[in-house]
Amino acid sequence: MLSRQTAFSFLIAIFFIQVGCQQSNQEKYNEVKLQSSEKREALVASCVVCHGVQEAQRGPILNGMENWYLRDQINKFRSGIRGNNPENRSEHLMGIGARSISEDLDVPYLAYWFSSKEPVPAIRTIRGDLQLGKDLYQRRCVSCHGENGEGNQKLISPSLTHLEGWYFYQQMRKFREGKRGYHPRDEGGRVMSAASKELSDYDIKNLVAYCVDAFGLPEVELTKADPSPKPF
Ligand code: HEC
Ligand code: HEC
Repeated sequence: MLSRQTAFSFLIAIFFIQVGCQQSNQEKYNEVKLQSSEKREALVASCVVCHGVQEAQRGPILNGMENWYLRDQINKFRSGIRGNNPENRSEHLMGIGARSISEDLDVPYLAYWFSSKEPVPAIRTIRGDLQLGKDLYQRRCVSCHGENGEGNQKLISPSLTHLEGWYFYQQMRKFREGKRGYHPRDEGGRVMSAASKELSDYDIKNLVAYCVDAFGLPEVELTKADPSPKPF
């Protein structure tokens, strides 16, 4: 018969062995999900067709967006919570892109890849009244997106510091019109859709102009050969 003390030590040992295994499994999992491979590089290249670093492509520039937010959104597109509305043509396009991700473990890899890239300067495409935009931001946005647009993961609210003006403007209008944030299981999207109701296009322009000016991407330097696009 084992003495009580030996049995107790035995149990403790098993406990620690288990914790140790769990840790090494977790490490292994982390390693696998961030490992590059030819297949994964090809997948990234397929995303970059629409999400490169040239502005105003089909999709927004993803460089420097938060890892957790990218993961969330890619998963939403994959499960059809976002990107399933044929009326929202740009979202629908991305829904098709997302279906090319066949492995669950590719999602954290893609999120990590884009989040670790440097953000790039953007052209200021949206003009507005900065003071009116600031007042509106303080009243209607600051509680979730923060004083400097830094976002708040606890409120699943992303940072607004890496958005191109055109994409920002377009998404605000989509939220307002229920073209994004329409799915019953899209918790964050529905919150944001409610937060943008009753904003006019003028309000949105002021908001976007303020956010981009106050804490957005630096302005790209235009050359003569690359004239400024017409403001919206
Ligand atoms: C055919 C073009 C196309 C391809 C390919 C594509 N996307 Fe997109 N993506 C878009 C468009 C357009 C949007 C904007 C959707 C909208 O208007 O809501 C978007 C949006 C996104 C967003 C949301 C960004 C945000 O700020 O909310 C993420 C994340 C994303 N794409 C990741 C990817 C990844 C990862 C891949 C590769 C597996 C990919 N996309 C492939 C067109 C594409
Ligand atoms: C109650 C909290 C809340 C408030 C208030 C709020 N937001 Fe959001 N916002 C969110 C959440 C949550 C998301 C993520 C939506 C998703 O998951 O699709 C979001 C997403 C966004 C996005 C999409 C970013 C992207 O990369 O596509 C923009 C732009 C945005 N908010 C701007 C604003 C502005 C401007 C205001 C003020 C008018 C505002 N939000 C007010 C919670 C909020």
